[in-house]
Amino acid sequence: MGLLGKKKKPEWVRVASVDDFHRSTMVKVGKHEYALYKLDDGFFCTQNSCSHEYSPLSEGIVMGDEVFCEKHGSRFNIKSGRVVNLPATEDIKTFDVKLEGSDIFIFVPPA
Ligand code: FES
Repeated sequence: MGLLGKKKKPEWVRVASVDDFHRSTMVKVGKHEYALYKLDDGFFCTQNSCSHEYSPLSEGIVMGDEVFCEKHGSRFNIKSGRVVNLPATEDIKTFDVKLEGSDIFIFVPPA
């Protein structure tokens, strides 16, 4: 298989510091946007766009382990990506997060 056919593997990318935000923020890796959340038991990451109509979840309201999309009221479990409340019917993607000191890394496809 040539270089063009080679699939890029996910990699750890530093995206923020623990002091950079309160509950949620948008982070970018290349042109891809992710939502990063600070919950009571750690940091978590999902795709940034709501699976209903692409509103940014990083601007949603975080309640417990869920994020509420203000545009039409969908709710998602941040840890599993599962839809909790309609109108969205499609789960959102989640991504692994690790901490090294105060640096936050997410495991995502290369930019
Ligand atoms: S865009 Fe999020 S609920 Fe419609």
